[in-house]
Amino acid sequence: MRMHLSPSILGADFSNLGANVLETQKGGADYLHLDVMDGSFVPSISFGMPLIRSLRPISEQVFDVHMMVQNPERYIKEMADCGADIITVHAEATPHLDRAVQMIHECGKKAGISLNPSTPLSVLDWVLADLDLVLIMGVNPGFGGQKLIPYTIDKIRNLNELLEQRGLREKIDLEIDGGVTKDNVTEILEAGANVIVAGSAVFRGDIAKTSAEFVRMLRAWEQKNV
Ligand code: DX5
Ligand code: ZN
Repeated sequence: MRMHLSPSILGADFSNLGANVLETQKGGADYLHLDVMDGSFVPSISFGMPLIRSLRPISEQVFDVHMMVQNPERYIKEMADCGADIITVHAEATPHLDRAVQMIHECGKKAGISLNPSTPLSVLDWVLADLDLVLIMGVNPGFGGQKLIPYTIDKIRNLNELLEQRGLREKIDLEIDGGVTKDNVTEILEAGANVIVAGSAVFRGDIAKTSAEFVRMLRAWEQKNV
């Protein structure tokens, strides 16, 4: 299965954002993780559509937009227009999850659902087959630089088994976000994730070099598991 590194620009130096993004691309990261926060679903406010639109022409990466936004349906169309490739909404942020997934697909984009650490996998039951990605939060959303909550690795393992049982493992990306480091990434891969988000671990220090180190670990994992 193909593994992807999705650096979260929340960890970047915003005064130098374009250059930071290009460094991740140079290091081989094929996804770019864009954390949109509304100050309501999560305490913090990050950035929105204008920033994503302005990054779109400089990067060939898959734009993996993580909407930490209450009632995300309000922004799906605009998010699609500004260059998102994958749009992920939180199960906890809307009573109309099925509708949100349909709206994303109607815009011709890939649809993901994200789950906070305490949210059970069972909320995915009826929509799972329609999804392109499930994002498991390794931390409580809202801030970069937190420590991964250990039980979220068990959750990845359980979701991986569920996807296998339903014959969906090849169709759906299993993404982990929050607290990923070079020290815990192997355990996360073993549990079954194939899209790895990393913010502070990538953007602290030499961005291209660190991205390349992560990508090397992912490629080595692929080789070992063909
Ligand atoms: C947290 C965000 C994450 C965050 C990850 O709410 O969704 O994407 O940027 O940052 P690190 O890798 O530093 O935990
Ligand atoms: Zn995120």
